[in-house]
Amino acid sequence: DWTSDVFIDATVEELRNKLGDDKVVMGLSGGVDSSVAATLIHRAIGANLYCVFVDNGLLRKNEFEEVLHSYKDMGLNVIGVDAKQRFYEALSLISDPEAKRKAIGNAFIEVFDLEANKIDGVKWLGQGTIYPDVIESISVKGPSATIKSHHNVGGLPDFMKLSVVEPLNTLFKDEVREVGRALEIPETIVGRHPFPGPGLAIRILGDITAEKVKTLQEVDYIFIQGLKDHGLYDQVWQAGAILLPIQSVGVMGDERTYEKVVALRAVGSVDGMTADWIHLPYEFLGKMSNEIINRVKGVNRVVYDISSKPPATIEWE
Ligand code: XMP
Repeated sequence: DWTSDVFIDATVEELRNKLGDDKVVMGLSGGVDSSVAATLIHRAIGANLYCVFVDNGLLRKNEFEEVLHSYKDMGLNVIGVDAKQRFYEALSLISDPEAKRKAIGNAFIEVFDLEANKIDGVKWLGQGTIYPDVIESISVKGPSATIKSHHNVGGLPDFMKLSVVEPLNTLFKDEVREVGRALEIPETIVGRHPFPGPGLAIRILGDITAEKVKTLQEVDYIFIQGLKDHGLYDQVWQAGAILLPIQSVGVMGDERTYEKVVALRAVGSVDGMTADWIHLPYEFLGKMSNEIINRVKGVNRVVYDISSKPPATIEWE
């Protein structure tokens, strides 16, 4: 029978044997998977695990500081890298969703490679890959399969020539969470909703500016905090806000306004492959709408996304 304690003991033992005195570098995202994977590797090899947490300027409000703080509290050897400007420059004037993903992926590789190269004699790349990612990369030849098939081939960033260690690649998300709780990782990390790698960039339709990111962060913060305050956060698989590239007319006092529209999205799902929009209470939605419009400058209209997947997707880009 699978239990998290048995898994943890066996995995830590296995990692110790496999890694010995080798050094491992690993990128952390603030998400459950990379945090749990890092904690397991850290249990096995301690300070020989070097973690890198990149601020790409596309995270939720306060997320970088808070998560970095948690990582340090957990005893992880972690470097926080402020690369906001680099990502904003890489994204400048790009509106196409796939082009955004590519620009963000490339910028991440550059930043991460720079950090990994500072670690003398590192041999391994730690990754938070979970079982569904393995299946997906086999069926669609995703990035991790590509990385592996090009393993030790010239022309790749140096860190991609490292051997890969993926302690969670047999687990499903709920098992990862269970392991995370057994490892006493803070609930703010273990219970966190999934968040896409490209972050808020794919929730700002059209081109990205630092100002738009700031606006969306404020909206998203009110919504997510609202879900938590109303006991709704754990009933939702994933939630967020989308900044639309249109303006609409409103009225504020005696003034006519012509400002941005945001959409709120909250879905229920098991694995993200299919999803249903959540029937959030009208009172709650009304409250969120008022708060957002009153508190976030530049937004005068809030709509709620009532599309399920399929045929819609969870993200708008
Ligand atoms: P969709 O929009 O395809 O999203 O229904 C399904 C799940 O995947 C996440 N997602 C991404 N995650 N990089 C990621 O790491 C991406 O480019 C990306 N696109 C979507 C999305 O947040 C949802 O959880």
